[in-house]
Amino acid sequence: MDNRPIGVFDSGLGGLTTVRQIIEAMPGEDIIYFGDTGRVPYGNRSCETIIRYTKDDIDFLLKHNIKIIIAACGTASSVALPQLYDKYDIKIIGVLEPACEEAVRVTKNGRIGVIGTTGTIKSGKYTELIKNINPKLTVVSNDCPMFVPLVENGYAESEAARLIAMDYLKPLKEENVDTIILGCTHYPLLEKVISDIMGKEVNLISPGALAAKKAQSYLKENNLLAEKCSGGKSEFYVSDSVESFQGLASTFLGRTIEGHIHRAEVLL
Ligand code: DGL
Repeated sequence: MDNRPIGVFDSGLGGLTTVRQIIEAMPGEDIIYFGDTGRVPYGNRSCETIIRYTKDDIDFLLKHNIKIIIAACGTASSVALPQLYDKYDIKIIGVLEPACEEAVRVTKNGRIGVIGTTGTIKSGKYTELIKNINPKLTVVSNDCPMFVPLVENGYAESEAARLIAMDYLKPLKEENVDTIILGCTHYPLLEKVISDIMGKEVNLISPGALAAKKAQSYLKENNLLAEKCSGGKSEFYVSDSVESFQGLASTFLGRTIEGHIHRAEVLL
C-alpha cells in the first residue's frame, strides 16, 4: 500500500480528461495535477523547449512526494519523454504506448489514423511505436493545430469545429482508416464532432484514459495502490490565472473544483 498521491501533468487543461479517468478508475487515490497554463501551448514549440518545459513539470510534481507520474500530454509524451525516462528514478507513464497497443488490437483493416499537435505528429513517435508492434500496418497522421484553441475557448461542439475537423480528417477518410488515435489530451472533447465526420464504425482511441488504466495496473502489480477505496482528494496547480483555469476545468473534469486550484509559484 502507498498513500502518496499520483502526479499528473499537462501543458494546460487537456490532462484533466485523464484525471477524470483516474478518479473513475481509482476513486481512493489522491492526485496532484500540474497544468502549465502560463506556457501552453507546447504543440507548436521546438523540441528543446518542449523538453525543458516537461522537465520543469516533472520537477514540480516531484516536490509533492508523489508515487508515480502520468504525463497526460501527447506533445510532452512524444517529444520529451523518450529523452527523459532514464533521467528519473520515479515511474513515468506517457500516453503513447497504451494508445498504440490498443489501436493495433482493435483495427480490423490494418489502417490506423493518428491526429495530434504539430510537435506530436512531427516527432513521428506514434507511427514508430505502431510499426514496432506490427510493421505491416498503415498509419496516416495529420496535425490539427486549431483543435486545441477551439477546445480551450469552448468551441468544441461548434459549427466552426465541424468545418475545421472536416478538413483535418480528410486524409484519414480518404485512406479509409478504421481506427483513430486522438493523440492529444484535448481531443476527447471533440469526440462527437470527429465521430460524426468519420462515422460510428471508426474506433476513436483516447490515450489519456488508457494511460490511467496502465497506471492502475502498475500500481496494483507493485502493491502501490492507496489503502482507501473512495474519497481521494485532488489538488490542482497552474502556472497562470486560477480563475481562468477554473471555468473550463469543470468541462474537462465533469465536476467543479473550486477551492482546490492553486497558483504554482514556480517556473516562467
Ligand atoms: N495537451 C497537449 C497535448 O496533449 C495539447 C496542448 C498543447 O499544445 O500544449 O499535446
